Amino acid sequence: MKARVIKRLRSASSPLFMTGAGISAESGLPTFRGKDGLWRGASPEELATPQAFGRDPLRVWQWYDWRRGLISRVSPTAAHMAMAGFRTRAGREVPVITQNVDGLHQSAGSSHVLELHGSIWRLRCVRCGVEVQDRVTGLSEVPLCECGGLLRPAVVWFGELLPEDVFSEALELARGSDFVMVVGTSGVVQPAASLVNIAREGNAFIVEVNPEETCLGRLADISFHEAAGDIVAELLQV
Ligand code: APR
Repeated sequence: MKARVIKRLRSASSPLFMTGAGISAESGLPTFRGKDGLWRGASPEELATPQAFGRDPLRVWQWYDWRRGLISRVSPTAAHMAMAGFRTRAGREVPVITQNVDGLHQSAGSSHVLELHGSIWRLRCVRCGVEVQDRVTGLSEVPLCECGGLLRPAVVWFGELLPEDVFSEALELARGSDFVMVVGTSGVVQPAASLVNIAREGNAFIVEVNPEETCLGRLADISFHEAAGDIVAELLQV
């Protein structure tokens, strides 16, 4: 099975990586729907919404601040590194479409990363819309913009639209891809998961890496039910 995947990948002209929280799990970051996915008893669906922020911005910020603290202390995994180091047969870097907001693909050295759900390291003013980079952790109050408006994480919350330019580039890449490796996503959050369908409709060869069975399994030509760190580097042979 592994040899078949390696052969397909080597002959692919437009490979693509798609990733979710599972690719960062081995660095020590909890996934959203895994056993440590709740924060003070609350699920992401309860915290990552404009309504939750409207009701209690400090509580939402405390969750993000906790996550930013965790992320700032970890390093990219072997799977992040392998993706960053891989080159196509034409010598090009493979684009990564990620649902993750942790920035670990970039830390590993990937430069073509499409962050479908934004970045936890960028803040946006809810009043004037300005965006700023910010890596400070340990906040005690809600950060404020120079205009006096509340700053929020520039991530996509439930009920919000994905950044249009990022999603349209992701769609185009999924349509044009002949090989997709999907790593560490439960595949339950849309429209990110639909990109796998779209690639499949375009006849891409789909490889899934996830220790658990997921709803994406039926779209995959091959599913490896293993942790990313054990197998991604092996398949990418870097
Ligand atoms: N290697 C690969 N996969 C793993 C590993 C690992 N070491 N450990 C866990 N996984 C898998 C889990 O089996 C699960 O299927 O990673 C997946 C993580 O799923 P989710 O927690 O649902 O994360 P994700 O699919 O990225 O969530 C999508 O939901 O809350 C939102 O915006 C948030 O981007 C996130 C979106």
